[in-house]
Amino acid sequence: MINTQISAFAADVFEGLASTPRRLSSKWFYDERGDALFQQIMGMPEYYLTDCELEIFQTAGPELLDAIGNRSFDLIELGAGDGTKTQFLIEQFLAAGANFTYRPIDISAHAIEILGNLIRRRWPTLPFKPVQDDYFSALDRLGKSQGDHLRLVLFPGANIGNFAPEEAVQFLRHLRKFLREDDLLLVGFDLKKDPAIILAAYNDPAGYTAAFNLNLLRRINEELGADFRLDQWKHWETYNPVSGATRSYLVSLADQSVRLPDYGRRFRFDVWEPIEVEISQKYNRPEIEAMLQQAGFTFLRHLEDSRGYFSDALARV
Ligand code: AVI
Repeated sequence: MINTQISAFAADVFEGLASTPRRLSSKWFYDERGDALFQQIMGMPEYYLTDCELEIFQTAGPELLDAIGNRSFDLIELGAGDGTKTQFLIEQFLAAGANFTYRPIDISAHAIEILGNLIRRRWPTLPFKPVQDDYFSALDRLGKSQGDHLRLVLFPGANIGNFAPEEAVQFLRHLRKFLREDDLLLVGFDLKKDPAIILAAYNDPAGYTAAFNLNLLRRINEELGADFRLDQWKHWETYNPVSGATRSYLVSLADQSVRLPDYGRRFRFDVWEPIEVEISQKYNRPEIEAMLQQAGFTFLRHLEDSRGYFSDALARV
C-alpha cells in the first residue's frame, strides 16, 4: 500500500479499536489474501449471491436496452473486479448491436489490467476506457469528459449491503450527484429470505468466511506491526430477520492485549469481548424501492433470479 493509504488504514484501525463497541471496517478485508479468500467464498455452494446475480445478468440485456432506448451509452461499473458477470451483459449488448463504451472503475490497477487483457482478447474492437480511481473521483472525471452520453451505472454484487442502511442512502444520494437526468442505475441487493439460508452463506462449514475475517487481523499485524494472536479469536455470525442485518464478529477467546505501535498503545480485550467487522444488510423489495426514491432516483423494476433470492434493482435519475 502507498503511504497515505497505510496511514488511513492505521487511523481507521485505531479509531475502531478505541470505540465502544469495538469495530473494524470490512473495507480493509481486500488485500491479496483477502481477494483470494473472497474468490473462494464466491465459489462455495452456500454463498448463493454470486450465482443468483450471474443468473440475472445472463438474461438482463434486453430489459436494460429497453430502458436505454436507442441511444449510445457508457456502461460504467463500480468496482469492476474480474468482470465475470458483466461479460454476459456485454455479450447481449453487442449481439443486439448496441453502441456503447465499457468504463469499469476500480481502485486496483492490477484488477483493471487483468480485466483489460481479458476484454481486449475477447472483444478487440469494443471501446474500453477503464478508470483507475475511487468511485466518486472517477465519476467526477467522467462527468467532465463525457459529453451527453447516457450512462448505465452498475453497482453489483450486493456491495451496497456492506453499508448500514442509512449510509447506503447517503452513498446513493452522493452517487446521484454525479449523474444526469435519464441516466440509469442497476444496484445488486441481497433479499431477505429464510434466515437459515442467509446464515449458512456467512458461516460456512469449510471455514472460508472465518479465514476471510481473521485475515484482517493478520493484515493489521503485517502492515501495522500489531501482535494479534489469530488463534485467540473466533468468528461469530448473526442474522437479525427484523432488521435484515447480517453481522460478523471476531470474539476474543481470552483476556488479552494487542499492541498498535504507530499509536504507542495497547488495547485490552476481555474474554468474550467482540469486535464487529462486517455488516451484510438484506432488504425486502419495498425497502429497496423506498431507498432509491429517498436518494433521488425513480425506481423502475426488480430484475430477480428464479428463486427470488436477489434483486438487481433498476432505477432512473
Ligand atoms: C463483498 N460483499 C458483498 C460480501 C457480502 O456478502 O457482504 C462480502 C462477504 N463477507 C463475507 N462473505 C462475503
